[in-house]
Amino acid sequence: MRDVTIRLAKPDECEEIQKIFNAPENGQYLGGFTQLEPIKSKQSAGSLAVAVEFDGTIVGANEVSTKHDHRLQMQLVAVHPDYKQSKIATALYTYWAIKAALNGRYMRTDTIIGDNPIMPQLLPTLGFKPGIVERGKVRRHHSLTQWVHSFLEDDPRFDRCPNDFKFEIEKTEKDDKNFADVCVLLHKQGRMDDTLKLAELREWVVEEFVG
Ligand SMILES: CC(C)(COP(=O)(O)OP(=O)(O)OC[C@H]1O[C@@H](n2cnc3c(N)ncnc32)[C@H](O)[C@@H]1OP(=O)(O)O)[C@@H](O)C(=O)NCCC(=O)NCCS
Repeated sequence: MRDVTIRLAKPDECEEIQKIFNAPENGQYLGGFTQLEPIKSKQSAGSLAVAVEFDGTIVGANEVSTKHDHRLQMQLVAVHPDYKQSKIATALYTYWAIKAALNGRYMRTDTIIGDNPIMPQLLPTLGFKPGIVERGKVRRHHSLTQWVHSFLEDDPRFDRCPNDFKFEIEKTEKDDKNFADVCVLLHKQGRMDDTLKLAELREWVVEEFVG
């Protein structure tokens, strides 16, 4: 039985997270060396999740951007070299999928074809589908593929994530407001079925994961 908790990062964990992002086998896929300041600002914005073992060892981290109205943009994710292929990244993505469900948002992430051999394998296992491909977008003329996960198309119920991970998740007033805004928008568009689907998923998520 694993004893790993997924929760928001604390201020004194930023340096440990930086070490994981900058581990030689990770940094090459994260655009090079990650500075401490952007990690600290993600932490203070509540946009950085960590996977922590029972003894406090940080085994993975995943940051997002919440600036976009209707989506949660997945950003850097990395797992400690000694803990890979133990579903840590799956659990970190599940944390943000739960948050996205609370907000009525869909999820998007970018990955670079050719550069990263794992993400194109990992993302479909989480319900992401490849969306727009921007050819020659990034250095060395690689293409950038945007992967999208919409709860309206694929109800995940998070069955890829082993249920021995612990999640510490709060539902905030901002989550409530964002969700209400999405419902108003869907109502205006006459999409009652979609509203009900998101509401039902949100209710399930609250029952299962929100303490
Ligand atoms: C990508 C990364 C975060 C995956 O973390 P992880 O915790 O090892 O991934 P998981 O154990 O959750 O794997 C989930 C799925 O991803 C795929 N996957 C993971 N590692 C893989 C590997 N080495 N080779 C092929 N597929 C792999 C598999 O489909 C796996 O499902 P399975 O266990 O049923 O086979 C980790 O390898 C890492 O830190 N890489 C360097 C940083 C990086 O590339 N970040 C992404 C760009 S931001």
